[in-house]
Amino acid sequence: MKERSGFVTKFGAIAAAVGSAVGLGNIWRFPYEAGQNGGGAFLILYVAFVLLLGIPVIVSEFVIGRATHKNAVGALRELAPGTRLHWMPYMGILASLMIISFYSVVCGWIVEYLIMAVSGGMRGHSPHEYAQMFGEFTSNPSRSLAWTWMFLLLNGVVLLGGVKKGIERVANLLMPLLFVILIVFCVNSLMLPEGKQGLKFLFNPDFSKVTSSVVIGAMGQAFFSLSLGLSCLLTYASYFRDDERLVRSAVAVASLDTLVAVLSGIVIFPAVFSYGMAPEAGPKLVFEVLPSIFEQMPGGYVWAVLFFLLLFFASITSTISMSEISITFFQEEWKMTRRSATLLNTVLALLFGGLCALSFGVLSDFKLLGMTIFELFDYVSSNVLLPLGGVFFSLFAGWYMERKVLDRELTNGGRLRVYSYKPLLFCIRYVAPAAIVVVFLYGLGLL
Ligand code: PFF
Repeated sequence: MKERSGFVTKFGAIAAAVGSAVGLGNIWRFPYEAGQNGGGAFLILYVAFVLLLGIPVIVSEFVIGRATHKNAVGALRELAPGTRLHWMPYMGILASLMIISFYSVVCGWIVEYLIMAVSGGMRGHSPHEYAQMFGEFTSNPSRSLAWTWMFLLLNGVVLLGGVKKGIERVANLLMPLLFVILIVFCVNSLMLPEGKQGLKFLFNPDFSKVTSSVVIGAMGQAFFSLSLGLSCLLTYASYFRDDERLVRSAVAVASLDTLVAVLSGIVIFPAVFSYGMAPEAGPKLVFEVLPSIFEQMPGGYVWAVLFFLLLFFASITSTISMSEISITFFQEEWKMTRRSATLLNTVLALLFGGLCALSFGVLSDFKLLGMTIFELFDYVSSNVLLPLGGVFFSLFAGWYMERKVLDRELTNGGRLRVYSYKPLLFCIRYVAPAAIVVVFLYGLGLL
């Protein structure tokens, strides 16, 4: 049997997990979710969820993945032989297909904006005109569809062509740069006339705004942003080396990811208030606001090109990671070749991604449960499927898995002293699953 390849360096392993976590979820989704859900209160809930559920579930996925070095279904079959528990990751595969479908639409917008920035189209317009341009572009069926499909094909080519490692390497070099330019943008935004009001919105919690949908939204955002609950991190951990420190890596991934989200909030909200825009504008928020930010920055043209280029790399490392879930599964469980597995994943994404792209135009009136297909895929995956996956992985690692396997993975075979062992185990066994269930019941109006 062919040896499974793994991450050669420790940095490579963590960088890949961070590459998966940091993406549009931080820079596009976090600001709009915070904007729609009251700002400060959402942020506090979000950070609380990252600490109480995020880190324990990341550790649970890491432990299961590295203990077996297998894809999610294979891992559960090995750890829970003779049961049907290995059916559970199918839900993650469904979630990964839903996410890639709507995510690639937004990636298509990034590519369009990158080209617009390069060709100088991001100059000389008012904030209102940018908002109008975005509306026209997304509601144009052929344009939106074309960019979504182009992005998905590119994603497929990267996955097939063996340049994945190359892309990851480039992205790992560029990620610190993304971080640096976010800080530059923060400074710029804070100097805007309504900078203070933007900060107040993001950091001053108004708990009277907290409703069940805000709580569910914050939990969904934590899962989405950390790539959690759909066995993405489990799959990556199956490639980890045996001396990788799982708890430390989990904390690193969670902290970096949260930092990037908060920085994007600091970039966006001062600008939203300064340009008289509405924080609750939804998915279009960042796309309407960013061009105006670049417009008033000295050297805005260069910043715009650089930013969209970096965001493109941040997004493609995330789409690679979500595609990897189903591709590894198709390969190892359905015995497909890498080529056919990638093809199947891409065809499914083209189909559903197309429907999501059209939700902003010809299909905008087609609604299920009051949501367009784009919104439905986003809502169901982030707010339902990923948290359910989280309950499962934490219960599995905390209660079902043999304690000695858990111990071995957390302490690297007894070689490490993990000071947070007890509180972490408590969170994995009780806090994370209980909190997710409570949020669900609250959301359904049963509490
Ligand atoms: N965490 C990614 C982001 O914040 O953009 C999105 C994501 C990647 C979700 C991979 C799920 C996944 F499996």
